[in-house]
Amino acid sequence: MALIGPPGFDVARMRREVRDTYERLAADPTSVGHLNHGAAYARTHLGYDAAELAALPASTTRAFVGVANPHRLGAPDPDATVLDIGCGTGTDLLLTAQRLGPHGRVIGVDPTPTMRMRAREGARALGLGPRVDVRPGLAEELPLGSSSVDLVQTNGVLNLVVDKVRAFSEIHRVLKPGGRLHLADVLLHHDLHEHERMEPRLWAA
Ligand SMILES: C[S@@+](CC[C@H](N)C(=O)[O-])C[C@H]1O[C@@H](n2cnc3c(N)ncnc32)[C@H](O)[C@@H]1O
Repeated sequence: MALIGPPGFDVARMRREVRDTYERLAADPTSVGHLNHGAAYARTHLGYDAAELAALPASTTRAFVGVANPHRLGAPDPDATVLDIGCGTGTDLLLTAQRLGPHGRVIGVDPTPTMRMRAREGARALGLGPRVDVRPGLAEELPLGSSSVDLVQTNGVLNLVVDKVRAFSEIHRVLKPGGRLHLADVLLHHDLHEHERMEPRLWAA
């Protein structure tokens, strides 16, 4: 199975298309018609806790576009350092930050500027500023030191990542020995045709 793409696959173009799609979505979630999004979807389809979602700013949850509920895999230790890859507007980032104690912290990484801006706004609105650090970056080149993280969480992101082998190698690099990965993502049960793998709109979906 090709993990990057068929011959002629334009990595830079795919990354640009993905970022542009999520830039539009962060600004207006209804502008990207094919993606499930928002608090009602998280609650009714993915089993997120209604009260916890309601306590987050609407500007955070309205652009939630996760594909499953990674919090069902367990809570981090209160003092943990958690990394959220592709944190988007910050729904999972902020839910995790609220579960941490005063010495815990969560680092969000996302390549899309408006996503990062909303995530930071949400953290400030909840008074979580010191516990939340949002950085620009890609899953394939994580802006973190080696063995620096106890838990990596990621929701609906690795399917968008062009070089998945590199992304898993980066996750392995930043996790401390014995660290955990809470992965919520999309799995295909059959291989895609070449024209499907070359289609930017399908990558960004
Ligand atoms: C489907 S959204 C999920 C956002 C968030 N996890 C949530 O549940 O709402 C995918 C996110 O991944 C980000 N993203 C796209 N390509 C990425 C990459 N190569 N590395 C890290 N994040 C990426 C997008 O900017 C977007 O915020």
